[in-house]
Amino acid sequence: MSAKRTVPSEADHPGTGSSQAAEPLTVEPQAAEPQAGEPLWKRDFPYESLAEDEVTRREFARFLVAGAGVMAAGNVGLAAWTQLRRINTGEPRALVPLDEVAVGETYLFAYPEDADPAILLRLSDTEVVAFSQKCTHLGCVVYFDADESRWHCPCHEGNFDAATGAVISGPPSRALGRIDLEVRDQVIWALGYQP
Ligand code: FES
Repeated sequence: MSAKRTVPSEADHPGTGSSQAAEPLTVEPQAAEPQAGEPLWKRDFPYESLAEDEVTRREFARFLVAGAGVMAAGNVGLAAWTQLRRINTGEPRALVPLDEVAVGETYLFAYPEDADPAILLRLSDTEVVAFSQKCTHLGCVVYFDADESRWHCPCHEGNFDAATGAVISGPPSRALGRIDLEVRDQVIWALGYQP
């Protein structure tokens, strides 16, 4: 739909130069070319509305929310991946037959790498635990103090709980690194290391 505009002729305004009576001229208004991406109806109804702006703002807000969601999901995924990496340090490996370690005795081995000293303690018939031998203070080697039933670091008198590796006393601020164990067919396996 387009509007027509009538241009005044000489007949409407005599004495302005033209001697011929002429038909009134009609000028077709220039149809605005639709912009790329605009619907065709915009050519005939080139109006904008607040609603259009609102839609645009709403879409922009939706875009921001979606972007924030993607970033949040990425952060969660990264945290989970980092946690899994921490838990899964070390390959599963058979260590020693269960009956070769008496209750209350220890067994020395290396885990997760050959250069990482570790120690295993059989707490009861069914319970075994293992830890990194590196003290979390300055890295001295801890040993099992059977009299006090705890892990002891002689360098600065650090002490750790026998079953959990938690700090009991002394300068260390972190528990001993723990090695997950499992008894399979009467053999003790190391499954992973948690620093
Ligand atoms: S290195 Fe073990 S207490 Fe300092």
